[in-house]
Amino acid sequence: NIYYINRFKMIKIAPSILAVDLINLKDEVKLVDANGAEYIHIDVMDGHYVPNITFGPNIVKSLRPITNKVLDVHLMISPVEKYINNFIEAGADIISFHPEADDKPLEIIKSIKNKNCKAGIAIHPNITVANVTKYLELIDLVVVMTVVPGAGGQKFMDSEVVKIIELNNIRDQQKLNFEIEIDGGVNKETSQICKNSGADVLVAGSYIFSGAKDNYKTLIDSLR
Ligand code: DX5
Ligand code: ZN
Repeated sequence: NIYYINRFKMIKIAPSILAVDLINLKDEVKLVDANGAEYIHIDVMDGHYVPNITFGPNIVKSLRPITNKVLDVHLMISPVEKYINNFIEAGADIISFHPEADDKPLEIIKSIKNKNCKAGIAIHPNITVANVTKYLELIDLVVVMTVVPGAGGQKFMDSEVVKIIELNNIRDQQKLNFEIEIDGGVNKETSQICKNSGADVLVAGSYIFSGAKDNYKTLIDSLR
């Protein structure tokens, strides 16, 4: 019964460093690590796939020695393929990308997996689950975007929740193993909608890092 499953399922939390003032990056990552975050979500933006520019493999390399948590890299870049090795060498544990941002998504998934890294695909609000079904048996993570990629602090798009349910159903029916991660506008209220729809991992940027630092444990736990 669904209530039973959801009640006891452990949701993973992935704080997004997009919401951190980079001058404090080391301390902030250590704080969310110590307060129970399972993943550290790293939003890479290139000023081309999305209008904003953030950071590259250098940040992954700097974070690798200071945390053992999963470094969850979300590429919002186009093209994708030529940058993959740099992120793997920097120490990424999972690399997700938007399949419409490159000509060869299948090759990219294979080349990530061949290097012993986990691969994910991210679903832009303009992309349907049907558009990405062919990748689901090959990947470890699906990132369902619940905002238009490009910026933190946006409002959760309720219209995308149906994709979580759809992916959860496909996963059950086809006995697949990918995790479902929700990215954008996650807070105390929307986290519960995601959880009840089948999510496994919740990204949260502004909700966690705009909160009081002495409160990170409470903020992280409030999303579970
Ligand atoms: C948006 C990024 C998100 C962002 C989420 O393009 O992919 O990961 O950091 O930020 P919040 O949690 O503030 O919506
Ligand atoms: Zn992201």
